[in-house]
This record gives sequence, structure tokens and C-alpha cells, in this order.
Amino acid sequence: MLKSIILAAGKGTRMKSETPKVLHEIFNKTLLGYVIEAVNNTELADENIVIVGHQAEKVEEFVKNNYENSKTVLQTPQLGTGHAVSMALPLLEDYDGEIIILCGDTPLITSDTIKEFVNFHRKENSDLTVMSAIFDNPTNYGRIIRNNDNTLNSIVEEKDATAEQKSVQEVNAGIYCLNWAKIKPAFKDLKTNNAQGEYYLTDIVKWAGLNNLKTLAYILKNNEEIFGINSKENLAEASRYLNNRVASKLMANGVTIIDPISTWISPETEIEPDTIIYPSCYIEGKNKIGKHCKIGPFAHLRGDVIIEDNVKIGNFVEVKKTTIKSNTNACHLTYLGDSEIGSNVNIGAGTITANYNPLTKEKSRTIIKDNVKIGVITVVTKDLPDKK
Ligand code: UD1
Ligand code: CA
Repeated sequence: MLKSIILAAGKGTRMKSETPKVLHEIFNKTLLGYVIEAVNNTELADENIVIVGHQAEKVEEFVKNNYENSKTVLQTPQLGTGHAVSMALPLLEDYDGEIIILCGDTPLITSDTIKEFVNFHRKENSDLTVMSAIFDNPTNYGRIIRNNDNTLNSIVEEKDATAEQKSVQEVNAGIYCLNWAKIKPAFKDLKTNNAQGEYYLTDIVKWAGLNNLKTLAYILKNNEEIFGINSKENLAEASRYLNNRVASKLMANGVTIIDPISTWISPETEIEPDTIIYPSCYIEGKNKIGKHCKIGPFAHLRGDVIIEDNVKIGNFVEVKKTTIKSNTNACHLTYLGDSEIGSNVNIGAGTITANYNPLTKEKSRTIIKDNVKIGVITVVTKDLPDKK
């Protein structure tokens, strides 16, 4: 049995925002959402416990409204990462499965890595496993101190480290797997006698060793996965990493992306082989695009867009909540929203679907049947029947 604890109480001062750090978004999904979903997609954990503190109400509401298997626990004041985890103690009094601990501000962690990490912990019969990473420049991270037999001795924070310890390039990635019943007593023993006067979660490593428990480190393969967000600049960097990941995967599957740098495609977009994505497209939300389509340049798909095969979506075309059947073209300056477009349709330049009634505030659907040819500069408010 496995549960996760996700630390999300910290302040995020450097974001300079009224929005809590973990509720900032990449492709319309919050940072915390990425972490929760990475855990959920492993199908290993039955529950996530999110530790909230700074702007707790907003984070609580987000978790409650979006993730049935997740709950929040309040940490106030925030006295350190060890203190944060100990907030979950009352909830886990009788629990004797495994706990993985992650941070809510590292959205690039993948389900595959979490699975591999937990499997390593299980296979090695470890009691406490820490995810580590090797960095050329390890500054600011806690350093991994190993014993001669390669097991873990301790983690020393940058601010507490000696010069020799600072030269260690293996760092604490901030993800842990622990056999809860065995490690739980450590939280009652944590002290604040360190440079930051905080309860360090990392001190459970030393404690476990002193209590003859098996403590290991698992070395992360791709350091990008623990990239943490502390600023708007970090947010942009993480978006870029994620976008590269999506583009690489699509290209490996046979999609042509002319310029991956200027093309943004959300992770929830599926695209079939031999479709070409031209430069400067922004594709967000959940979408499905078929084979042999041409999308862009300068197209904006806003989510819930289903495009069948051989469809052309051209310059300055915006599409939202719309299904477009095969062999249909919308090549220039068009908005298609809340619509169903048939096959072999030609949407003339400057066609706008206008299906929102501001008086009743109702949005209806626009249905354009097969073989319809729409002339230029047209506002389509109602259904257009098959013209064959
Ligand atoms: C921590 C680790 C460090 C590791 C690094 C990896 C400790 C003592 N140090 O350092 O070894 O290399 O992460 O990123 O754990 N948080 C709370 N409540 C608190 C304090 C923090 O929920 O009272 C949350 C933060 O919101 C954040 C996470 O815990 O999501 C990590 O806290 P942070 O202050 O960023 O830890 P570091 O000092 O970077
Ligand atoms: Ca800190």
C-alpha cells in the first residue's frame, strides 16, 4: 500500500503573485496538478495528502474540486519540511504501508520515474529511499553523504555544510519513499539545531541509520524532472522543458513539427503521423488531430478540438470545443467554437461562428453539415444543412 505526501505550504515569495505558487499553470494545468497526476498515473498510490499553508484556502479548494483521492492538511506556521510532513502524523496513525514524499512545485516529475523509484525501494527492501541527482553545480541543494558501503549516511543542507561536503555533487532531489511504520518515530525526534532553525525532513536519514534501518539513494536519470519553480522565469523554463518533451514524443511518433521552438503543444494533445504542424501554433488543452493534416502557421487550438484526417487549419484560425470531420479546410482568419463541422467542408476566409447569446447567456452549438462551402466573411449563427 502506498500514499503520497505532497509539500505545498511554502511561500513562493519570488513569484511576486497573488496566486499561490503551486497554483501557477503550465498549459492550463497547475504545478500541483502535474505532481498529483504524476502520482495518480502510477496507479500505485491510493491517496495523496497535500500539506498546505501559505494561501491555504485557495490550494485546499483546488485540491477538493479536482482530485477525489486527495486531501489537504494545514501547516501553520511553516517550520520546515520535517514539520510539514509531521502534520500528516494524526492522519496516518495506524497506517503501515509506504509513503512517498514529493514537492508541489516540481511539475516535471514523471510517473515512470516515480514507479521506478518505488520499485527500487521495494526490490532493495529499503526502509528509507531518497531520490538523488548528480549536478555539475550542486549549489543550494542538500548534499548526499554516503557510507563506505554506499548506503546513505545523511543529508547536509548547503547552509550547514563544510567545504568538503559542499564539494559533493550528489544532491537530494527532495523525493523520498519510506516504510511509514518504521520511520514515523523519527518525526518526534527532529530538532531545529541547524543553520536555518527549521525542522529538516532530511534529518530522518541520519535517524534511520542510527536506528539500523536500511537507507538508500536512488539516482535520478534526467535532472530536468526535479526542476523546481521559484520564479516566473523558472515557470517559463519549465514550460519550455515540457514543450520540448511533448514535441520530441510527437516527432518520434511521426508528426512533422517544422519549428518546435515556436510551436506550443500541450501534453494532452494527440496527433497522428504525417500531420504537419507549421511554425507559431499554440495548441492548448485536450485535443485529437488525425493523419495528414496541416495545422498553422499561426493557428490557435484552445482545447476539446477533434480533427479528423486530411484537415487544413491555416493562418489565424482559432478553434475551440469543435469537431472537424475529414477533408475539411479552414485556411484563413476564422473562429470555430462550440461547433460540429462535417467532412469536405470549405470554411471561407473570415468565417466566424457566433453561437453565444449575450442576453440569455446561453451557448448553443453550430452544426455545419458535410460538403458545405461557406463564402468569405460570414457569420454562422445557425445550422447549415448538407449541400450535396
Ligand atoms: C529541500 C531539502 C534539500 C533538497 C531540496 C530539493 C530540506 C531541509 N532540504 O530544500 O535537501 O536538496 O529541498 O529541492 O528538506 N515546505 C512546506 N513547509 C515548510 C517548508 C517547506 O510545505 O515548512 C515545502 C515547500 O513549499 C516546498 C518544499 O517543502 O514545496 C521544499 O521546501 P524548500 O524550502 O524549497 O526546501 P529547500 O530549502 O529547497
Ligand atoms: Ca528552505
